Amino acid sequence: MDQEQLRKEVDEIVKPWEGKEGNLIMVLHQIQNRYSYVPRDISFEVAKRLNVPLARIYEVITFYNYFKLEAPGKNIVSVCLGTACYLKGAPKLIDEIEKQIGVKPGETTPDGQFHVQAVRCLGCCGLAPVITVGQKVYSAVKPEQVAGILAEYSEPATAAAAS
Ligand code: FES
Repeated sequence: MDQEQLRKEVDEIVKPWEGKEGNLIMVLHQIQNRYSYVPRDISFEVAKRLNVPLARIYEVITFYNYFKLEAPGKNIVSVCLGTACYLKGAPKLIDEIEKQIGVKPGETTPDGQFHVQAVRCLGCCGLAPVITVGQKVYSAVKPEQVAGILAEYSEPATAAAAS
């Protein structure tokens, strides 16, 4: 993620909590939910934005087991289960992902290639149903497209073995 995009994302996450008591933990929750861990560069930006020492952020992250410092998988696959996506078939996408790579939301493939998570509205309901892999957004996804999307991120050896 480039610096500009990173700032924009952090801004989006921090804004609703600005000036509110206990906002650091709420912001960290949002970050953990969005990325499945708290990326280091995001922590730096949050420290600047909320004007708290970075050490304080790491204190909170390490105190609560809920927060993770490492990405749980190489590629984070997020399936939006917000209302629009849900109604347009997101549960079928979750089923298809499980069929393809054998993991449900909250799980990571044994080879660490993919971590799958269900997320709330990603803010682009007009594109429902939406999947993201890393920062890339896939819109109006049909179950039959899932295999192709995942194949874009599979290691060459895995892709070759599958073909
Ligand atoms: S409900 Fe999925 S993007 Fe809004």
